[in-house]
Amino acid sequence: MSIKCWERQSCLTERDLAAQAVALGATDVRGWSRAETRLIRDLPLVPAGTVAELRERIRAGEDPLGDLFSTIRSPQIRRKKGATFTPLNIVDAILDRAAEYGLPQRVIDPGAGSARFLLAAAHRFQQASLTGIEVDPLPALIARGNIAAAGLTNRAEVLLEDYCSARLQKIDSPTLFIGNPLYVRHHLLKPQWKRWLVTEASRHGLSASRLAGLHAYFYLATLGKAAEGDFGSFITAAEWLDVNYGRLIRELFVGPLGGRRILVIEPTALPFPDAATTAAITQFQVGSRPKTVSMRCVRNLDELTQTGGDHEVRREHLQSERRWSHLIGCRESRIQSQTILRSGLWTLDPRPLTLRSGRGRPDTWNWGSCAVFTEVR
Ligand SMILES: C[S@@+](CC[C@H](N)C(=O)[O-])C[C@H]1O[C@@H](n2cnc3c(N)ncnc32)[C@H](O)[C@@H]1O
Repeated sequence: MSIKCWERQSCLTERDLAAQAVALGATDVRGWSRAETRLIRDLPLVPAGTVAELRERIRAGEDPLGDLFSTIRSPQIRRKKGATFTPLNIVDAILDRAAEYGLPQRVIDPGAGSARFLLAAAHRFQQASLTGIEVDPLPALIARGNIAAAGLTNRAEVLLEDYCSARLQKIDSPTLFIGNPLYVRHHLLKPQWKRWLVTEASRHGLSASRLAGLHAYFYLATLGKAAEGDFGSFITAAEWLDVNYGRLIRELFVGPLGGRRILVIEPTALPFPDAATTAAITQFQVGSRPKTVSMRCVRNLDELTQTGGDHEVRREHLQSERRWSHLIGCRESRIQSQTILRSGLWTLDPRPLTLRSGRGRPDTWNWGSCAVFTEVR
């Protein structure tokens, strides 16, 4: 390949991306898998100048490989696995508050993608080990490349596993669970996983809907892996605050997961540039039973970093309510109408939470809208 192509980027492929990750030292990061060995066969050579430039940018806090992945792999394909990476400013804002409940000795990112959360956490918690869990070999390889480029090889591992079934070593000191548990529609989830959800929920005395999206699975799996005193912060699509199949997350949050805070980012703030979605950031401390939960609704991303402005809602109040967004101060209708406005093609069906497309089959262009609205068949 010509040097020009490496510089221009527009002609790069997934193999070139894998080659960049390997050139940055991906193979040195613990947890290597066979799938990744297959992925790195006969890769092109990356010019030394390109590798040096990438390393410099990664050390400066950028994620050039993650960005390139999001360009090369189409949104339709990424959406199936929920691979929408979190904007770096949101990662920073979440991490700024993550240490409110202690100093982690281990940081776990379920569904690590390009390891944005792990790299940002590494600077803040310099004593902590870093574990990324990822099912897709290419993001896993990119995560390794980023970790190696940032000089974190000795502190980190990437496991190519399903988060729900991954077994993690128990440790005595606190673990921080942090990340962006993805939204994947229940239609795309295998029956065996739906059975897992129901069985695992009942182990904790809870019931689960088979219509739940994958982020409910991640919340539940976190409870199964966490010890009392561990804490965490997740950003997800916000639909679970109000819909029936979000009940499991609500019950986990006010129950055993020890929910402390919910911050909702309205779609006007465009938390994810390629999706007009409402996002909810939760903070929890496993096993805690706070009298109140702090809540806030933000309309632009600057407000994310501002302190104050939360209001307190009694935990019992949350336990007795079936919908939460009105308690947070965001209007549910607003969540819906913003999404419709962006898509143009949709009209709201009189039945709750259902969209009909004016033209043919509904598109699933937006993981947020998929989360808020059920697809019409
Ligand atoms: C929404 S992205 C978040 C990536 C990264 N944490 C971030 O915030 O930028 C979710 C990631 O989870 C991965 N994933 C999907 N299903 C998974 C599963 N069952 N277990 C672990 N990772 C999974 C996807 O491949 C994707 O990279």
